[in-house]
Amino acid sequence: MSDVTHIPVLLEEVLQNMVSVEDGQFVDATLGGGGHTYRILERYKQIRVIGIDADEVALTIAEEALREFKDRVTLVRGNFKNLKEILQGIGVSSIDGILFDLGTSTYQIMGKRGFSFNDDEALDMRMDIREELTAYDIVNCYRVDELATVLFEYGEEEKSRRIARAIVETRKKKPIETAKELADIVAKAKWRRGRIHPATKTFQAIRIETNHELESLKKGVESAVEVLNPKGRIGVISFHSLEDRMIKEFFRNSPALKRLTKKPLRPERKEILTNPRSRSAKLRVAEKQ
Ligand SMILES: C[S@@+](CC[C@H](N)C(=O)[O-])C[C@H]1O[C@@H](n2cnc3c(N)ncnc32)[C@H](O)[C@@H]1O
Repeated sequence: MSDVTHIPVLLEEVLQNMVSVEDGQFVDATLGGGGHTYRILERYKQIRVIGIDADEVALTIAEEALREFKDRVTLVRGNFKNLKEILQGIGVSSIDGILFDLGTSTYQIMGKRGFSFNDDEALDMRMDIREELTAYDIVNCYRVDELATVLFEYGEEEKSRRIARAIVETRKKKPIETAKELADIVAKAKWRRGRIHPATKTFQAIRIETNHELESLKKGVESAVEVLNPKGRIGVISFHSLEDRMIKEFFRNSPALKRLTKKPLRPERKEILTNPRSRSAKLRVAEKQ
């Protein structure tokens, strides 16, 4: 087991708001290190959890972390956009709750896979290494206008065109191989340095594009509503406004759902101090009618 841990965000809020059927069948659609699942299984002694993750490393870590609950857990490698097929594959047709905790886990960030701008690691950023498209392909092969669009739409990066041009100019000399090279190009193109790394938005955008994250999320939540039992709950923890906006609209416009959180639940100051990653987290919960 590695010595890094991923601290589950908004944990108490998840435990208090996500379980409506205490002996039900719950899905953790983004298992990660199994942090939320562990605490759900610990608190609700009769609940069963199906844990899904696209990343095989996450499943290995979670399997170890959840050993003591192995009779109540089923782990599946897959993309939550295929939720219905995944459930069918293990003979499950309906569920009582589902949690999506979006973004990357600490294991991925520390895993030298190009998610972090601090290390000299290969530009990969795939959550599922069976997929073909990598961050390297996007950075080195997209046209300048395509790159600018990705940065603007998925990163809400206001300097998108300037950064896209800097990327294309640099790669004319040689391919951009590492996350650090990309981070340095962006930092130079943006000039300004602040508390947040100047490449944060660029990295977010390229990660979203690499993993088709917004399409998967849309398909995932749509399928979730179909398989939820009445009174079953769906919760989404998002970390940026694109995802949060999508979920807010989806919950509001789904006739089958009743919103339980009109305003998203946010971490308390205490949580932000102990886990700065939680700073931008928002949890929205809805119940199937
Ligand atoms: C923030 S982490 C989850 C952490 C987890 N809740 C915990 O407490 O340990 C997000 C996880 O979701 C996975 N993931 C992201 N998008 C996915 C998708 N479309 N399908 C399946 N897993 C996905 C990532 O691989 C990552 O392991």
